Amino acid sequence: MPLREVISAAEIARRVSEIGAEVEARLPPGPLTVVGVLRGAFVFTADLVRAIHRDLTVDFLGVRSYGDATVSSGVVEITTDLGAPIAGRHVLLVEDIVDTGLTLRYLLDLLKARGPASLHVCALLAKPINQSGTLGGFPNPPATTPLGEAQLRQRDPDASLPLDFVGFKAPDGFVVGYGLDARQLYRNLPGICILEE
Ligand code: IMP
Ligand code: MG
Repeated sequence: MPLREVISAAEIARRVSEIGAEVEARLPPGPLTVVGVLRGAFVFTADLVRAIHRDLTVDFLGVRSYGDATVSSGVVEITTDLGAPIAGRHVLLVEDIVDTGLTLRYLLDLLKARGPASLHVCALLAKPINQSGTLGGFPNPPATTPLGEAQLRQRDPDASLPLDFVGFKAPDGFVVGYGLDARQLYRNLPGICILEE
C-alpha cells in the first residue's frame, strides 16, 4: 500500500525537543517515571526521554486496543504490566496517538489507582473530534501545527481526559511510522506517513 509522508523526521525531532523542555518546566520536582505505552510509543518514548534533562526512570506498559484492524475494537487489553511500582512518583504517560481516547481513559484509571504523586499525559498525535466524537475539536489548525495550551483544554472541557502535552494534531487517515504500525509493519519509518488504501 502506498505511503505518503506527512510529518518528517526533522519536524518530529524539533517538536520532541520542545516537548522535553515543556515537561522539564511543568512537571513538579521529585522522582519521575516516564511510562511508554507499547508498542506504538516506543520510538517516541526513546526520543522524548533524551530530551528531558533531569533524573528519571523509564518503564513500559503493553496494551492492545486495535488488534490488527485499523478501526478501534473498543476493547483494551494489558499485555505487559509496569516493572516497578509508581506510588509516590511523578508519572508521565507517553502515548503514540489518541483517537477515541478509550485506551488513554483506561490507562489513566489504572495508573491513578496505584497512587502516583502526579500523573501527566503526553501524546505524539491527537485525532480531532470528527473522527471519534468523544474529544473536543480544534479550530482547524494546519495538520502539523503543535497545539497550544488553549486548544488542549478545549479538547476536554470537563477535564476528564487531560492531554498535558501533544506533539501534533493527527492528520486525517490512518497514520504509520515513528513507532506506529499497520498490522505490525512500518514502525521503523523515520517520519509519520498516511497509509493510502
Ligand atoms: P483509542 O483508544 O481509540 O484512543 O486508540 C488509541 C490507540 O490505537 C493508539 O495508542 C494506537 O496504538 C492505535 N491507533 C489509533 N489510531 C491509529 C492510527 O492512525 N495509526 C496507528 N495506530 C493507531
Ligand atoms: Mg498505542
